[in-house]
Amino acid sequence: MKDSWADRAASLLVKDSANDFYKKILYRESTGSSNEWMKEAGEAGDPSCIVGIAEEQTAGKGRLGRTWVSPKGENIYFSLLLRPGAAPRHAAALTLVMGLSTAQAIRETTGLPVGIKWPNDVVINHRKVCGILTEMKTDSEKIDYVVIGIGINVNQTEFAEGISATATSLRIESDMQEIDRADLLVSVLQHFRENFILYEKTEDLFGLREAYDALLVNRGERVRIEDPKGPYTAVSKGIDATGALIVVREDGTEERISSGEVSVRGLYGYV
Ligand code: BTN
Repeated sequence: MKDSWADRAASLLVKDSANDFYKKILYRESTGSSNEWMKEAGEAGDPSCIVGIAEEQTAGKGRLGRTWVSPKGENIYFSLLLRPGAAPRHAAALTLVMGLSTAQAIRETTGLPVGIKWPNDVVINHRKVCGILTEMKTDSEKIDYVVIGIGINVNQTEFAEGISATATSLRIESDMQEIDRADLLVSVLQHFRENFILYEKTEDLFGLREAYDALLVNRGERVRIEDPKGPYTAVSKGIDATGALIVVREDGTEERISSGEVSVRGLYGYV
């Protein structure tokens, strides 16, 4: 990775206490999907805490079988291989830990008014700047490995027609100022390390709820719950320790929504 921005990020990490946490920072000029790459590392028996950064992805994957368009030279695409000791039911919360870490890092490095759209989209001014895709392999009640993949729209200035209404980049939101990818990536990894240590204490979001809720968009507001059994509106209250979103229906009943089950939207659009 000589002389690449990822190389600079790796050297910045070496000077930092997070260096002990991340075992390897790997870089590829091009790969199909960094999630697939890190899953291969998981299958090959590589240890926990390996970061695979791609300059470009030719088959980037989004949630729900979508494609994550990943042009080179502009954005951040990376995946983290983890082997947490937690039971499989505690793994979903790790996606929220990464969403929180990314939002904190963006705020710290750019000062932009970033928020989290439950469960793990990072948004600015009602548009998405970051998506996270977590995949895992479990073996007889234990997690073998988890791969958390993160795509951050950093310096991209144009989006395809289908997503231009709901996507943005840090550069667009910063009056077209170029953002340093190495500084941002280092900050994401440092925040994740700190947050992961808190997560591991209870194997849930107990110690991170407050920080997460402080960044949650639409908190205290009415949202639309796209429940397969029928949509309804409710007031969003924040998350519980498992990462479920607590909402209160108009008749006063409280519901806890688990990620993956349903999507939650603002009353007038994506956020
Ligand atoms: C989403 O749909 O919101 C999730 C997008 C996740 C994209 C990232 S980019 C790095 C990693 N590799 C992939 O193929 N996908 C994730």
